Amino acid sequence: VVIDRTAPVPLALQVAERARALMQAGTLAAGDRLPSTRALAAELGVARGVVEQAFDQLSAEGWVESRRGAGTFVAKTIMRPLTVRGAPAATRSHSTRVAQRPSIRLDTGTPWTDPRHLSGWRRAWRTVAAERMPMGYPDPAGLLALREAIAAHVAVNRGVVCSADQVMVTSGTTHAFELSLGLHPRAAVAIEDPGYRAAVATARQQGWDVVDVAVDSEGLDVEALADNTRTDIRAVYVTPAHQHPLGTVMSAGRRTALLSEARRRNALVIEDDYDSEFRYDVAPLPALAQFGLGDVTYLGTASKAIAPGLRIGWLVAHEDRITQMAQRRGDRHDSPSWPVQRALLAMFADGQVSRLIRSARRVYAERSVLVRDRLSPYGTIARDVAGMYLSVELPADTARRVIQRAAKSGVEVPSVADYCRTSTRAGLVIGFGGVTSAQLDRALDVIEAALDRTGHDRQ
Ligand SMILES: Cc1ncc(COP(=O)(O)O)c(C=O)c1O
Repeated sequence: VVIDRTAPVPLALQVAERARALMQAGTLAAGDRLPSTRALAAELGVARGVVEQAFDQLSAEGWVESRRGAGTFVAKTIMRPLTVRGAPAATRSHSTRVAQRPSIRLDTGTPWTDPRHLSGWRRAWRTVAAERMPMGYPDPAGLLALREAIAAHVAVNRGVVCSADQVMVTSGTTHAFELSLGLHPRAAVAIEDPGYRAAVATARQQGWDVVDVAVDSEGLDVEALADNTRTDIRAVYVTPAHQHPLGTVMSAGRRTALLSEARRRNALVIEDDYDSEFRYDVAPLPALAQFGLGDVTYLGTASKAIAPGLRIGWLVAHEDRITQMAQRRGDRHDSPSWPVQRALLAMFADGQVSRLIRSARRVYAERSVLVRDRLSPYGTIARDVAGMYLSVELPADTARRVIQRAAKSGVEVPSVADYCRTSTRAGLVIGFGGVTSAQLDRALDVIEAALDRTGHDRQ
């Protein structure tokens, strides 16, 4: 292991990175014992704390396991780097080289899940398997015990104090959005621009008109909403805790302004709080739903804390709305799946959800610092640190060229422009949940090189 003291990368990250490379190459194999932190620190001439930090990181990522009194060992099941869908289009002369490289997708929606918590996952499903499936269709509002667990979760994590009858279990955020819109005659819904594409698609598929409202450094531009002359805006969909995809947090002033503007229009505010568990510097601003469920419907999801594949989320709303929605769902047998609900309940009950959140928060905090350090010289990144992606705003042409160049090197970078409808904002969206640290490093190398090649000046 050789470290470079002149490099801007912290020593602990360098040690972790080198060890990871040895494990990836098979030089260190499953079950091999790593040197003690004291011995390795002495050999490298660094403080012991540096090596301890590196080992903690490797352990959090599932590469190594510590056994009390015995030392640190390469994990039995090493996390393989994510192999991702087909290599991007390449010219013939480059095709062999590109095909050999792993392609890396900096997807914004894929979370990192701590492999150390696999046992908790298995335990939850064993609990499900040991129970007898209830007869008939489950309650369309969700299992009562799960609704209680969700009420406790949103109270602790987001200060949204509610009872189980104000909670409904859904198949994720867009399903919850669809259910919310379904209670009203079709009209227009205001959605942040740039904004969550799946929300736009959902509204349109439900026959609602989408009104584009700009976003600035304080979140949705409420003045622009107030100036909009359409009188049929009956809902406003927002991501105040972490604007998707720009990453800004809606300011306190904007929140109050939004609520009064929505009230003036008799419009429901739909608060998508998709990743607020992952605010890792300071506590997030209170959820809008804290102002009252008469005006706000709150949407949460297990997609970030556990896995998008579970397809489960929740909606917190006034109990009258929940009753109406449950009735409509019941009419079409749209009940949440019993095994999935039961598994989620088991994961809440034995602390698995909290464990996953805590581990991922640590990894995201580190990765976001890395991304920020490497890319903030080139463009504008929202000040707030949250979630599993960061957006770097850049001139449109630069962003386009960087994305193209990165794709040629096997790195798929989402574009801010793809989230825009009428907005002309542009830049790169760097999702860092669905990749390994090594892949993220490599992707950042590629992006930096591409930025430098475009001749885009550092700020
Ligand atoms: C803004 C936003 N809301 C919600 C979600 C999660 O949606 P679901 O609960 O349907 O998986 C995502 C996932 O990427 C998202 O980006």
